[in-house]
Amino acid sequence: MTETAIIGGTGLTSLNGLEIVRREVVNTPYGEPSGPLIHGELQEHRVVFLPRHGSGHTIPPHKINYRANIWALKSIGVEKVIAVNAVGGIAPEYAPGKLAFPDQIIDYTWSRINTYFEEGLTDVVHIDFTHPYCEELRALLIWAAGEAGLESVHSGTYGATQGPRLETAAEIDRMERDGCHMVGMTGMPEAALARELDLCYAACAVVANWAAGRGSGEGISMGLIKQHLREGMQQVCRLLGEVVPHL
Ligand code: HPA
Repeated sequence: MTETAIIGGTGLTSLNGLEIVRREVVNTPYGEPSGPLIHGELQEHRVVFLPRHGSGHTIPPHKINYRANIWALKSIGVEKVIAVNAVGGIAPEYAPGKLAFPDQIIDYTWSRINTYFEEGLTDVVHIDFTHPYCEELRALLIWAAGEAGLESVHSGTYGATQGPRLETAAEIDRMERDGCHMVGMTGMPEAALARELDLCYAACAVVANWAAGRGSGEGISMGLIKQHLREGMQQVCRLLGEVVPHL
C-alpha cells in the first residue's frame, strides 16, 4: 500500500527522480480527479503523485475537482499528503524563490464545492479546523528543509484566493491587514477536504513572485514567475528526497 501522496502544483506537473511504476485511473462519487494517480518510487520509497492542474497544466485553480482528488487518494489507502503550492509573497520574509510551510489559512475562495458533508447526512458535521495542517508532517518538512540546506520560512498564514486572475494591490493590502503572509489559489478547499477525510496533510509553499503591489510595485511578470518556480521546484525535489525516507 502507498501511504504518502504528493500533490504537485504549478511548476510541478512531473516529479524529478520519481521512478514511475504505474498509472491508476480512479473513479470517485464526485467525478474525475485531475488525472490518473501516478505510482512510483522516490529514493526507493513508494509514493503516489497527482498534479492538481492535470499533467498538461490545463485545469485552472477554480476548476480543479478538489473533492475527487482527495477522495481518490483516500480510496487507495493514502494517509499522508504533501501539497506543493505556488504562492505570491506578501510579507517581507516570503521572497520569491523561498520555500514556506504555512501553519494557518484564511479562505477567500467562493463558489467552490468545499465539503463532503452535504447530502445524505444523518446529522450535520463540523470538523475541527483550528489547526488546518497536520503539525507532525509540517514539523518533518521543516526539519527536512534544514537537513537539505534549504532556506525556508517555518510558519505563516496562507490566504487562498479564487483566481484565476491575480489580486489587486488593494486586495493584497487587505489580506496583509487580515494577517496573511502569502497568497495562492489552490490551498482551499483542498486542506479542509483532507481534514474531512482524516488525512495528515501539510503544505510546502513555493514563493513564485511578490504579491500585487509588493516588491518593486510594478506588475507581475509571468516570465519571472516561471523562472522562480523552476528554481523553487528544484528545491522542492531536494526537500522531498530528504523527507520521503522518514515518512
Ligand atoms: N497570487 C495568487 N496566487 C499565486 C500568486 C499570487 O501572486 N503567485 C502564485 N500563485
